[in-house]
Amino acid sequence: MAPSRDNLSAVLHKARDLRLEQKELPEPGPQDVVIRIHKVGICGSDVYYWHRGRTARFVVQSPMVLGHEAAGVVETVGSQVTHLRPGDRVAIEPGVPCRLCPICKAGRYNVCPAVQFCATPPVDGTLTRLYRHPADFCYKLPDHVSLEEGALLEPLTVAVYGCQRAGVGLGSRVLVCGAGPIGVVSLLTARALAAARVCVTDISPSRLEFATGQGADGTVLIDGASEEELAGRVVAALGGPPTAILECCGAAPSVRMALQAAAPRAKLAFVGRGPPDMDLPMVTITAKELEINGVFRYANCYPLALDLVASGRVQLGPLVTHRFTLEESESAFQAALDGRGIKIMISVHD
Ligand SMILES: NC(=O)c1ccc[n+]([C@@H]2O[C@H](COP(=O)([O-])OP(=O)(O)OC[C@H]3O[C@@H](n4cnc5c(N)ncnc54)[C@H](O)[C@@H]3O)[C@@H](O)[C@H]2O)c1
Ligand SMILES: [Zn+2]
Ligand SMILES: [Zn+2]
Repeated sequence: MAPSRDNLSAVLHKARDLRLEQKELPEPGPQDVVIRIHKVGICGSDVYYWHRGRTARFVVQSPMVLGHEAAGVVETVGSQVTHLRPGDRVAIEPGVPCRLCPICKAGRYNVCPAVQFCATPPVDGTLTRLYRHPADFCYKLPDHVSLEEGALLEPLTVAVYGCQRAGVGLGSRVLVCGAGPIGVVSLLTARALAAARVCVTDISPSRLEFATGQGADGTVLIDGASEEELAGRVVAALGGPPTAILECCGAAPSVRMALQAAAPRAKLAFVGRGPPDMDLPMVTITAKELEINGVFRYANCYPLALDLVASGRVQLGPLVTHRFTLEESESAFQAALDGRGIKIMISVHD
């Protein structure tokens, strides 16, 4: 076990320059907790920063700790914190908004212009032994929910919000485009919400195989067939046109195909991040009155995601296909870049 004064952290200086360094020991403010981080899942955005030093919108300009899918054990609590105690196991909601602007007051805090999100430059992330966070953005885990599951609540929460934005519910015919971690948790969430059928697409047969193992009712391999042909396969797999679409790859042809397959009045939640601009079939959107809803992370969804896991309606365990220690972070990022498995998990403390 690491000594308690140790705050080893995975700090990205620039593209491909990840260093393990000691950071200052955090002290909690009155409404904060300091958390001994145990598990951190690697997300596509972390891999982008590590590989390229940037994502589409954000550039790493000064050293930054990576990681935002995290869970750990409360070490110390601030003087005004009443709902958490040292020893509590918690999942961390990584985006903290200003709380004061009209958007925050309306409850849409994910799109607060001043939101600070772990490992989005210049905000430090959670790949660190000891991490400070506002206590009200930490969720106590029941004893039977593991710390790995706690870390996986972050991508699950994206799926919960995505399903809300796509209007998934009882009897929905759901199309999930892309079978990466986000597509798979969207599939699991749609099933938990009593969707009638869920069809998943991908360009990778192995990812579709994984989705089938996770309960997809049908899959469609994106294999170079025409948009019309692929849309027809989706409709056949669902027993009718999709009423709810979770776009989880961001590729323009995928979006176009999904809109072509969609039922009249279907909703498409745009989760995937692809090219900044794309051509969409506007006549189709108008004629079918389709709704396209952007998805930026999530708001007010962590408790719902935790409930899905705690009640056993969603099982996240099988998603973790590779595990590394904090000291092996570089190899973990390389494995993620190579597209190995589904979710790669880093153990900061066992
Ligand atoms: N909006 C948000 O708040 C939010 C949050 C998290 C992730 N994301 C985005 O969601 C997307 C999915 O995340 P992930 O971690 O699962 O990524 P991922 O890259 O692991 O998965 C994407 C999957 O899409 C597949 N794909 C590529 N082209 C396709 C096509 N034309 N049709 C169907 N499938 C195709 C890939 O083979 C891959 O399996 C990413 O773009 C990510 O940036 C958005
Ligand atoms: Zn993420
Ligand atoms: Zn705000």
